[in-house]
Amino acid sequence: MKVKASAQGKLMLFGEHAVIYNYPCIVTTVSPRVYVEIERNMSQLIIDNPQVRDNRFVEEAVKLFCKTYKVDNKLSIKTYSDFSSQYGFGSSSAVTVATILALSKLYRLKISKKEIFDLGYKVTLNIQGVGSGFDVAAATFGGTLYFVTGGKIIEPLLIEKLNLVIGYSGMKANTTKLVKSLKPDFRIFEDIKKIVDKAKITLINGDWNKTGELMNQNQKLLQELGVSTEKLDKMCLVANQSGAFGAKLSGAGGGDCMIALIPENKRKDVESAIIKTGGEILNVKCNI
Ligand code: MEV
Repeated sequence: MKVKASAQGKLMLFGEHAVIYNYPCIVTTVSPRVYVEIERNMSQLIIDNPQVRDNRFVEEAVKLFCKTYKVDNKLSIKTYSDFSSQYGFGSSSAVTVATILALSKLYRLKISKKEIFDLGYKVTLNIQGVGSGFDVAAATFGGTLYFVTGGKIIEPLLIEKLNLVIGYSGMKANTTKLVKSLKPDFRIFEDIKKIVDKAKITLINGDWNKTGELMNQNQKLLQELGVSTEKLDKMCLVANQSGAFGAKLSGAGGGDCMIALIPENKRKDVESAIIKTGGEILNVKCNI
């Protein structure tokens, strides 16, 4: 019997870096998914992972799952993805969660979302050594979440459709390296926490003007922290000049993506301004 499962990618809305140090963040899911197909075989673990290329997350997910639930690991696994791992949408966490979901289907085990999260988080920590787990939570629970380090709080936020423009800066960032090399600044993290807690309310209330302002404030603090780049700053600036409510980098910084919250009637203006600075627009839906 062949079983299939999938999990979504993510975008950080507020609170990156601080969330590594026991502060909250807000994360949302993106429409592209990573898919995993699994069937049992007679011999050994075989992984065909052409797009993600890095087999370590699937291997570790299988290892921990089979050990925890005392099931067999003679499996053939195939993965494929709607998105390239270069964009920072969290393909590692999505492939990890999709593997755990597929295994629980294959072995007909009823596992709660919290258990899936806990196992997935362990997998990513074992491989990367660092990480808050926000990406694993997004892949497990979906939607938009208020999240505190390691899943101490995972709170779904009921918000209306998020009108975001997502601009890729053209540079792949190495999140693990950036997180490990960052010198924590707790004054900045405290200020980020205040922004995250305010954004939780403005998002629920659909107050896009205020949410945009908070994004700009968060971006300033990320600049102070030294994780933004000239290109990301420029992309945020032109997005704001073209009618966005606000803009910030999303994720670890050092490259990858920025996001701009927009009134829908300004989408074309904001997108073309970002393209003019050399950014690439990624057409994905959020908060689903
Ligand atoms: C990276 O997308 C976000 C960070 O906060 C890392 C993490 O939370 O695992 C920098």
